[in-house]
Amino acid sequence: CIPRFVKIVEVGPRDGLQNEKEMVPTNVKVELIKMLVSSGLSVVEATSFVSPKWVPQLADAKDVMKAIQNVNGARFPVLTPNIKGFEAAVAAGAKEVAIFASASESFSKSNINCSIDDSLKRYHNVALAAKEHSIPVRGYISCVVGCPVEGMVPPSKVAHVAKQLCDMGCYEISLGDTIGVGTPGTVVPMLEAVINVVPVDMLAVHFHDTYGQALSNILASLQMGIVTVDSSVAGLGGCPYAKGASGNVATEDVVYMLHGLGVNTNVDLGKLILAGNFICKHLGRLSGSKAGIALSTI
Ligand code: HMG
Ligand code: MG
Repeated sequence: CIPRFVKIVEVGPRDGLQNEKEMVPTNVKVELIKMLVSSGLSVVEATSFVSPKWVPQLADAKDVMKAIQNVNGARFPVLTPNIKGFEAAVAAGAKEVAIFASASESFSKSNINCSIDDSLKRYHNVALAAKEHSIPVRGYISCVVGCPVEGMVPPSKVAHVAKQLCDMGCYEISLGDTIGVGTPGTVVPMLEAVINVVPVDMLAVHFHDTYGQALSNILASLQMGIVTVDSSVAGLGGCPYAKGASGNVATEDVVYMLHGLGVNTNVDLGKLILAGNFICKHLGRLSGSKAGIALSTI
């Protein structure tokens, strides 16, 4: 059974551009975000309020938020790793934030420089502050099936972190196969474990396409009741702290599959492809979306 409507969370401007070696100018990021919104996407993760020493690519977070403050039609969540990031995000006009934990100790250490337990304590404080400001919080879990250092990650570990994020008040929890190693063979048992402790309609899936498994994993997730899918225009992305992680699954490919299944997304595929072509032209590279390439007229 497949849902009739799937909400797509576009993560290209954040998860995609955080991994670009060259700095993308603020005005190009802003134009990309506007094009994504005009394609019909209702959630566009705009940037991160993280340490500019760790992620210099997103050091212009405040300027991006300022430039999109009057853009209507979509929500613009931003990543916040701690209270400092949360306060900066709110000061810059963010109306929604995301916290990001890991199911693997090694990845937690290399991504946010602390243990899983310490990160959850930190996030608890962010969640409390967000509640005071009536700001919704999305929770991410990285490495839900595999870790670049530890290898296979047990489903019980993911379920444990998911339950804690849920108890903290996250309205949605995105399960990230950060290095794209999962297949339906590992994704389904992971989802079963998480669905045991968190309602399925609170879950989102976030696949990277390193091994070409993302669309199969999404289809398997939809069949289990998932209705929210993260993706990145033109397949931009990766993660600076996950060696070998290729891009996120391309939004164009996800939309093409969903529309083929008769699932509504409210996204205009033609306009989305224009957004993908715009950023690829700027980056001087071919799109990471097969549908984007096949359907492009330029
Ligand atoms: P740390 O070095 O342990 O932090 O980093 P600290 O508290 O010791 O502070 C060190 C310096 O950073 C200080 O500045 C702080 O003020 C500053 P200094 O005194 O040296 O000049 N600082 C900040 N500056 C700006 N904004 C902040 C902030 N916090 C501290 N919020 C920290 C810890 C968490 C800050 C760091 O490790 C960090 O920023 N990590 C972010 C890494 C990141 O963004 N990774 C990518 C996103 S996760 C991802 O992509 C996976 C996901 O997509 C899911 C999936 O794909 O599966 C979500
Ligand atoms: Mg990611």
